[in-house]
Amino acid sequence: MQMQYNVSLKPYNTFGIDVLAKCFAKFNSVEVLEQLLNQIKNEDFSKKLFLGGGSNILFTKNYDGCILKNELKGIEIIQENENHIYLKVAAGEVWHELVMYCVENNFNGIENLSLIPGNVGASPMQNIGAYGIEIKDIFHSLEAYHIEEKKMVSFNNADCEFGYRESIFKKQLKDQFVILNVTFKLSKQANFQISYGAIEQELANMGVKELSNKAIAQAVINIRSSKLPNPKLIGNAGSFFKNPTVDETVMQSLLNSFPSIPNFVNKKSSVEYKIPAAWLIEQSGWKGYRNNDAGCHINQPLVLVNYGNACGNEIFELSVAIIDSVTNKFNIILEREVNII
Ligand code: FAD
Ligand code: EPU
Repeated sequence: MQMQYNVSLKPYNTFGIDVLAKCFAKFNSVEVLEQLLNQIKNEDFSKKLFLGGGSNILFTKNYDGCILKNELKGIEIIQENENHIYLKVAAGEVWHELVMYCVENNFNGIENLSLIPGNVGASPMQNIGAYGIEIKDIFHSLEAYHIEEKKMVSFNNADCEFGYRESIFKKQLKDQFVILNVTFKLSKQANFQISYGAIEQELANMGVKELSNKAIAQAVINIRSSKLPNPKLIGNAGSFFKNPTVDETVMQSLLNSFPSIPNFVNKKSSVEYKIPAAWLIEQSGWKGYRNNDAGCHINQPLVLVNYGNACGNEIFELSVAIIDSVTNKFNIILEREVNII
């Protein structure tokens, strides 16, 4: 595959930010990846970045290095028994297309993750999650290429150290590996997860009498389409910040000052409370805010948006102002979910 120089990244990030990459190439096999890595070394490009669908990234300046876009394709059933099916999926497959393939074939467990943009290879990076499911719940293993040591390494579920929008690939192993494929363990039995209130409500609105993964996928698609801006129409990268968690003492003191503050007990740790960042941002006056083409979405203030020609720095500066005002009002420091480059 050909290396290109001074390439606009506008078509390759869902924020629609128009910056240039010093060099850019796509790879659809490990052999091509290895050739490209050698070429980069020879041409002395010190920096490189692996890109999937560009839906969780904000470019704030021209990229002074090489962008390598993962286009590995293929879905393979590698094992099957009475209860489960193991699907090995190449990193460049589109996430939502994988979900639809599973729904069509009655491979259950992934349907709540419908309509999340991006590619399969990035899904373990931040343990993507929505509507009561995270990929760690269906993740079996992955294979990744160690960039310096030039070898393949397998990771099982525990190795990945998944957490809320976290994995080892964002922490200790940051920038060391490129994920090449992910194996998912899906269920042949119906074991649906509809405890997330909005799903039950939407299924009722749809008049669904008999639960199926198809109905749940459609309910999730309906909810998401009504709330989240479509990146094809308005640039964005989904939730810009994580929902913060606080301990019991902090929660009590927040409730004393702000009795209506929504909060959810963290299922995994009954001493932690999750507070919706959207509420904190709305209460701080940012919902619907717009300055030139950078804004805070009118329906979902956790989503920062590019209405057309905002530059990455305008979005970033807006995120700084939001963090400052939420800190001043609630003494809670919001953490960004989106990767800032
Ligand atoms: P990219 O943006 O291309 O990359 C993200 C990061 O991963 C970068 O640091 C990149 O270098 C790295 N990376 C990508 N591929 C690889 C690889 N193969 N190997 C190593 N590193 C790699 N996320 C959720 O969790 N839940 C949601 O409900 C959700 N909703 C969203 C809704 C909208 C409208 C949008 C725009 C985004 C949403 N997101 C959500 C965020 C985003 O879709 C996910 O984080 C997705 O997994 C990103 O995939 P991507 O291929 O676009 O990653
Ligand atoms: N809220 C407001 N004002 C609003 C909107 C929401 O106060 O205008 C409050 C309400 O209290 C509401 C709460 O925020 O109950 C939660 O809102 P929502 O259900 O829309 O979910 P979220 O917490 O904002 C999270 C994920 C999403 C995921 C949805 C569904 C994070 C950072 N975000 O959003 O993930 O799709 O739940 O599970 O955890 C993403 O990561 O990019 C993403 C979109």
